[in-house]
Amino acid sequence: MAVSYKDLGLVNTKEMFAKAMKGHYAIPAYNFNNMEQLQAIIQACVETESPVILQVSKGAREYANQTLLRYLAQGAVEYAKEISGGKGIPICLHLDHGPDFETCKSCIDMGFSSVMIDGSHLPYEQNIIETRKVVEYAHKFDVTVEGELGVLAGIEDDVKAEKHTYTRPEEVEDFVKRTGVDSLAIAIGTSHGAYKFKPGDDPKIRLDILAEIEKRIPGFPIVLHGSSSVPQDLVKIINENGGKLKDAIGIGEDQLRAAAKSAVCKINIDSDGRLAMTAAIRKVFNEKPEEFDPRKYLGPARTALKELYKRKNIEVLGSAGHAYDK
Ligand code: G3H
Ligand code: 13P
Ligand code: ZN
Repeated sequence: MAVSYKDLGLVNTKEMFAKAMKGHYAIPAYNFNNMEQLQAIIQACVETESPVILQVSKGAREYANQTLLRYLAQGAVEYAKEISGGKGIPICLHLDHGPDFETCKSCIDMGFSSVMIDGSHLPYEQNIIETRKVVEYAHKFDVTVEGELGVLAGIEDDVKAEKHTYTRPEEVEDFVKRTGVDSLAIAIGTSHGAYKFKPGDDPKIRLDILAEIEKRIPGFPIVLHGSSSVPQDLVKIINENGGKLKDAIGIGEDQLRAAAKSAVCKINIDSDGRLAMTAAIRKVFNEKPEEFDPRKYLGPARTALKELYKRKNIEVLGSAGHAYDK
């Protein structure tokens, strides 16, 4: 039987994005695959009073099971209420990089409040057809849909693109109109993973293309994928404790701050969380080799993750303090 996200206490992105646009900040979209990541996200967002988008990727669905992740998100709504004195925070459950209509439909039927249909690798007209089909189904249930135009460089699930194909500003108006999407992910030089630039590159994203896109679709919510900053202090801890991450470089936080103040309403961050957890776990393994209780290394990893997300909400996205905006 289909379940409505509304009965689970989740929200879609509509109101979140309208407020983020008005307030010149971006909503954090953090990926989760397990309980510790989810606890860290919820604790960080409750403590900073930030709305949040919980993202479930293809990898997450394969690793943890889509049904179980949905129940974890349902639990997260109750957990947020419990640790915030009953108020809760706005929580959206979002399918990240939905590969096709069937996957989007199955998430919508299961209680997700938002889905991405990633047709970015398809020819333009095909992308429109696929995206439109998902929008028609999703909107019947008041579920919001994110589409994508342009291709990010790097690895995205199983698809690897060598080079960025920047979003063409001249296409966005037509795409948004013909698909009916609620938000649009764009390619302006961000990419997935920890190796976004090579040493010697000018590590800049194309804020000029973003400005051009904003001019064509004023007030329309824009999404940035691949927005981890790869904090060098975390890379250092990993490498000092037996890791081997060479030349890992991310997006400067100053550029993300600038983007968050514009029409960018959602910023996707996954890799930085992976780095924070890995750094904390490696440190425990290195300094206390006698430990074998998973709580003794997953606990510190969860704390490190929470601190990272709190800092992101406050210093990068600007979403802190906006959970209860009217
Ligand atoms: O889009 C990429 C996200 O970081 C999710 O990656 O499919 O390995 O979970 P994943
Ligand atoms: P990062 O790999 O930069 O964290 O990007 C995550 C992402 O875009 C998830 O969709
Ligand atoms: Zn992504």
